[in-house]
Amino acid sequence: MTVSGLTGFQWRMPVDVRFGAGCVSELNGRLGDRSAVVMAFEPATALGWRAQWTSDLGQRLRAWVEVPDGLSSMARCREFAEQVWPVLAAEPGAVLIALGGGTTLDIAKVLRCRPVEADPRIDQLADERRRTHPAGFDAVADALRGRAPWPALDLTPLWMVPTTAGTGSEVTRWATVWDTDVQPAQKRSFDEVFGFADCAFVDPALTHSCPAAVTRDTGLDALSHALEAIWNRHANPFSDVLAVSAARKVLTWLPVALREPANVEARSALSLASLEAGFAFSQTRTALAHALSYAVTLEQGTPHGLACALWLPTAWKLAQGCDERVDSLLEQVLAAEAGKRGDPRIACSHLGAHRLQAWLSSVGVSCDPASHGVLDAERRIQAALNSPRGRNFIAA
Ligand SMILES: [Fe+2]
Repeated sequence: MTVSGLTGFQWRMPVDVRFGAGCVSELNGRLGDRSAVVMAFEPATALGWRAQWTSDLGQRLRAWVEVPDGLSSMARCREFAEQVWPVLAAEPGAVLIALGGGTTLDIAKVLRCRPVEADPRIDQLADERRRTHPAGFDAVADALRGRAPWPALDLTPLWMVPTTAGTGSEVTRWATVWDTDVQPAQKRSFDEVFGFADCAFVDPALTHSCPAAVTRDTGLDALSHALEAIWNRHANPFSDVLAVSAARKVLTWLPVALREPANVEARSALSLASLEAGFAFSQTRTALAHALSYAVTLEQGTPHGLACALWLPTAWKLAQGCDERVDSLLEQVLAAEAGKRGDPRIACSHLGAHRLQAWLSSVGVSCDPASHGVLDAERRIQAALNSPRGRNFIAA
């Protein structure tokens, strides 16, 4: 993108973001005398965080709901709505705090959307059920499925505390809801202006608890967000800078974090990379690799970041040579790696896809679709190029 050819762009980021090791300690003071409902990933109890937060929040803590590992599914959103919405209905002004990875954060985005009026179908329920179920989930499910407009909502203030470095959900307006209630199962996209959190505390110290597999797969998700923001038709000069910085950090620091899980510098760099990539793709959205990933996750249960990463060399090859701006940025992404190895040739974008594939292999990722159960890769790539996300891709 030359300056002379620069087209206008807009940037919307309403999330109040705090970043830094220990920044989550500011949450208490910021909460003041408001009450809180915490949705936390399940390991929070074993890590001692539940006890600490329960002590810190004291009487302000109205409910602590644990989110087991797994997909952010429609069924789970419904189940948690039944637990959380009665508490929020009884506590006007309460803040919903999401503490966890992408699944927890995405479910919390849906749960902040409590319909003002009970769904008419609730009338069919028994009185006791209606008392504990003041607003029906069906109206929200219909909106998520695109079958009806959103009902009038009582939006709960939403604060996000990511415990992984990768999702970016804390600074985007969308969430993924896997609809396993229908056959075949489908991915529903929650994509609304009220999907932005009010506040995010990005504290790298929290990511030290991540097991190696989670560290890798979330790092791959951040790398995917960064590269997808680069080879994207909606890129702008700000997203370019953030995306290159994020991708370079992941390439440099993810292997370090995998070798040395307690490395403070690596954890901090990966959290910052995740936030940078989140900012970038919050404006551009995702592209081809994400479009291809969802079926792999649904069919094989492949973690999201891994399901995206396996398509990155394919997307890189297709993107190279299409656009000077993209070629230049991809060279910058690999420049750090090239310098480290004393081989400037591998910074060239035409070698970049191979270099990326070698890097992915070094962190244990096979980019052969067949090894992930995909036997019709070429057909899928053609279909994805014609999908909404695929059309964001610079080479589509
Ligand atoms: Fe992603």
